[in-house]
Amino acid sequence: MVRELLSPKNIDFMERAREVAEKVMRPVAAKYDAEQTYPWEVQRAIRDAGLSGVWIPEEYGGAGGSVLDLCLVVEQFSRACGGMGVAYAVNALGSFPILLGGTPEQKGRWLPGIAAGDKLIAFGLSEKEAGSDAGSMTTRAEKDGDHYVLNGEKKWNTGGAVASYNTIFAVTQPGRGARGISAFVVEEGTPGYRVGKHEDKMGIRCVPVVEIHLENCRVPAANVLGGTEGSGFKHAMRTLDLARPGVAAQAVGLAQGAFELAVEYTGRRKQFGQTINSFQGIQWMLADMASQIEAARQLVHTAARAADVGSSATSRLSAMCKLVATETAMKVTTDAVQLFGGYGYCKDYPIEKYMRDAKITQIYEGTNQIQRLVIARAVLREAASGGAAAKKEAVEA
Ligand code: CAA
Repeated sequence: MVRELLSPKNIDFMERAREVAEKVMRPVAAKYDAEQTYPWEVQRAIRDAGLSGVWIPEEYGGAGGSVLDLCLVVEQFSRACGGMGVAYAVNALGSFPILLGGTPEQKGRWLPGIAAGDKLIAFGLSEKEAGSDAGSMTTRAEKDGDHYVLNGEKKWNTGGAVASYNTIFAVTQPGRGARGISAFVVEEGTPGYRVGKHEDKMGIRCVPVVEIHLENCRVPAANVLGGTEGSGFKHAMRTLDLARPGVAAQAVGLAQGAFELAVEYTGRRKQFGQTINSFQGIQWMLADMASQIEAARQLVHTAARAADVGSSATSRLSAMCKLVATETAMKVTTDAVQLFGGYGYCKDYPIEKYMRDAKITQIYEGTNQIQRLVIARAVLREAASGGAAAKKEAVEA
């Protein structure tokens, strides 16, 4: 991390997040991992530190921060606990569709509660048979007077069990493919909205990942994002472009946290009469880990900055940083476990949790296979246009 490359505002967010992470999150990370319950005390600490709505504009009660600020905060939280990092970041994922596609009235209705930390929000895109192929969803929304009636089931809904709002994507015009999908904000307590199965997960265990059942769920037409049908899929894709740097920041935080524990451990573990960090083989591992983390972090920051200035390279960079940072997290956390030897494999030490938490970052918000697809499509599109897009980006940069 090169602090001098960050603005005073960036550093302020980062330091407030680090304080919450060290004082509140780290001491209880193992407890919530074991219990698999939601850390409400952590949620309250985030709210009290004024970090609930970092990415939300000031006119809607937020802190007016950027995607980069969001990433800096998520990295610090995830350095202490990957589950708590995503429990926080998923509120950006759920609220980006409102920011991108909501009417001013809708933004005024939902964003202030989220910004204040009084309301949590989730993101309901995936279904049992529609994961990577998000456009093949079958959850249906049929107009009935001044309401829509939603029927279907959402899967992998992170935070859904504790959220007051859920951004649900559903088909309003069958046969129109991606153009027939619309986004709705469904409020907790709406008749026909039900939280179902809680997944028993390998990692990120403090945040509930649930199924959401929609059974003749009547949602006011006023809750269709943007007020008109058909732009839901585009809002979902643009949301993922903004949110994937957050997953990548979670991965960087996990890698950084595991790395720091490995540095500390290898500095005190003695074998053959000396600390193991005096062996070149260990030093080279630490050097690789540090270099990979910094490379991933800088790509995350570049992608976040691209998102903040609205660059046409955002989608591609966002997929790239998600791919690179999450592969790095898996590699670094696995190497960190290796450096702890047999102790690393046991729950007496906090290190194995980093490896478990890291795994999901390669899977959610688009598997890394889907990230490669997004990157390849962008690269091939650019090649087909004779490099015109690249030249435009170079001028923009
Ligand atoms: N921005 C704006 N519009 C976009 C876009 C983008 N980044 N990407 C695609 N679109 C538009 C296209 O231009 C196209 O519009 P037109 O109909 O006007 O031409 C439309 O969307 C359909 O695009 P594609 O034909 O490219 O769509 P596709 O069916 O081939 O799928 C995909 C593209 C990239 C594979 C997409 O389905 C995808 O991202 N899949 C992964 C989904 C995902 O990440 N799910 C995770 C959900 S969150 C989660 O993990 C749980 C959680 O709670 C954390």
